[in-house]
Amino acid sequence: MNVGMNLGMTLASSVSLRIAGLLLVGATLTSCNVQGFFTSYGDDPVWVDPNASAETTADAAAGGGAGKAIYSRICAACHLGSGKGSPGANIPALAGSAIAQGDATLPIKIVLHGLRGEIVRNGVTINGQMAAWKDALSDQEIADVLTYVRSSFGNTGTPVTADEVAAIRSSTTDRLLPYTEAEL
Ligand code: HEC
Repeated sequence: MNVGMNLGMTLASSVSLRIAGLLLVGATLTSCNVQGFFTSYGDDPVWVDPNASAETTADAAAGGGAGKAIYSRICAACHLGSGKGSPGANIPALAGSAIAQGDATLPIKIVLHGLRGEIVRNGVTINGQMAAWKDALSDQEIADVLTYVRSSFGNTGTPVTADEVAAIRSSTTDRLLPYTEAEL
């Protein structure tokens, strides 16, 4: 009877160990953020968590609106609060960028799907990679952040609406990789 009990307990604890193991694997996989990315092939990759957008937008009302809050939380990590980027570290400026403040279709495509490959800005060759934000940001959030970018840092672009973002999102659903400049 003792043996039976011991066996039973051994079985029970090995089952619970297995369950614990499975839970651990599950937790590890879940916490592994497949959308995360490193920004460039340079020496100092910047880790940015797209899910950070789930955080509160408490400072949204504090000036600059929702777009500024999203910019500070996400884009500023690379393009800096000043919009000047770090061209020497393969991150272009948004301040003065013709693409950022020109035809809204281009920056919308870039924020939805990302940008990769060589670009030349202000005489500097930049070869970085920006990840896609389509899964992390809603049409409204992309419209807000681009409206902020296009009207800040001395930029003079027109506002972007959620409808414009929605239209481009649905016409580019087959896009799997970040755009190159030539593909935009
Ligand atoms: C992890 C770093 C990173 C983050 C975060 C990031 N970008 Fe970028 N962005 C880049 C890099 C790198 C490029 C240039 C890619 C290349 O070299 O082809 C770029 C390019 C751009 C461009 C094109 C600029 C030009 O003149 O060609 C725009 C517009 C832009 N980003 C907007 C944004 C916005 C808006 C956000 C926030 C929603 C954002 N980016 C977040 C790294 C980032």
